Amino acid sequence: MFQPSPWRADFPAIDALQRQHQTYLDSAATTQKPQILLDALSHYYGHGAANVHRAQHLPGALATQAFERSREKVAGWLNAVDSQQIVFTHGATSALNLLAYGLEPLFEAGDEIAISALEHHANLLPWQQLAQRRGLKLVVLPLDSRGLIDLNIALQLIGPRTRVLAVSQLSNVLGAWQPLEPLLAHAQAQGALTVVDGAQGVVHGRHDVRQLGCDFYVFSSHKLYGPDGVGVLYGRSEALARLRHWQFGGEMVQIADYHSASFRPAPLGFEAGTPPIASVIGLGASLDYLAGLDAHAVAEHEAGLHRHLLRGLNDREGIRLLGQPQLALASFVVDGVHNADLAHMLTEQGIAVRAGHHCAMPLLKSLGLDGAIRVSLGLYNDSDDLQRFFEALDQALELLR
Ligand code: ALA
Repeated sequence: MFQPSPWRADFPAIDALQRQHQTYLDSAATTQKPQILLDALSHYYGHGAANVHRAQHLPGALATQAFERSREKVAGWLNAVDSQQIVFTHGATSALNLLAYGLEPLFEAGDEIAISALEHHANLLPWQQLAQRRGLKLVVLPLDSRGLIDLNIALQLIGPRTRVLAVSQLSNVLGAWQPLEPLLAHAQAQGALTVVDGAQGVVHGRHDVRQLGCDFYVFSSHKLYGPDGVGVLYGRSEALARLRHWQFGGEMVQIADYHSASFRPAPLGFEAGTPPIASVIGLGASLDYLAGLDAHAVAEHEAGLHRHLLRGLNDREGIRLLGQPQLALASFVVDGVHNADLAHMLTEQGIAVRAGHHCAMPLLKSLGLDGAIRVSLGLYNDSDDLQRFFEALDQALELLR
């Protein structure tokens, strides 16, 4: 039965893509944007761009107001206590790099950082490099057969030497919620700081940082129907106060002399230079859009399409799903067919899915794979998109097998 998306018309790019015979099924990589965001960007650039937090003039005051309103909207979206707990970065990756650099002075040789076996490179490499610089131990929490962090083992591996636990909320490859609450509680009881990579999770309804109970939470705007070039670092106030400053320049400074300087606290102390003003304002508009949707209807829609996706994949012979995806995406390989060949043929037929290691090379390797195909869904997808994907898949497999 046809399942339409009630929100499809809000995303002008979907029509444009369709006119180019493209079916977009790669929203876990980046999303298409609602018209309200295009309007906000056009309004900002069309009515007078100005730098923020600097100028006395009217355009500067208006830009600063809009920028700070976005900070409040993000704080509201995450249920943070205070908008001053929201630092704008250039993406989730830069937020995680900020953390790995900012927390470095807290470590002594022999201390441990715990991550999980499914981390995206963005939540692996900054910690790996920190561990190498400081002689720390990087502990990798293993997964169980469902692709979830194995709690029995993880709770044993996180101990008094663990200074930081950094884990993804929702894997970009396996599409399963990770059992974070007990992990975070245990790590905090051991005195560790906790970092949650919410790049995928923030999109799908679980974005209450107080309920989650983490010290830091990061995400990228562009996966949340917002513009690219901006990310968010949320931190509990006491946790943010422990970060060393990382990038130096305009606006993050309190007093500067030729040979010394003092710096502002978060958030501005971590936003050196001109921030991505238009993108921050645009993110605010996207959050307004999302806040106006019926969350229950969105969840139902996403769940319905995901069931359709899994049914279609499971019905076809020789297709192996990675893990047990719960929502939003499914990654798979096909017996006897290389993922790059299949991806090539799907691309030829206008199906936009992601193939390869998905920036999680160690995870793919641990599954004995060098790549997989990933189909991921957005608000705007409907069952016809999946139908086109399955028709293209069948044709491709007929030729490749
Ligand atoms: N992290 C993004 C993905 O999974 C780019 O595709």
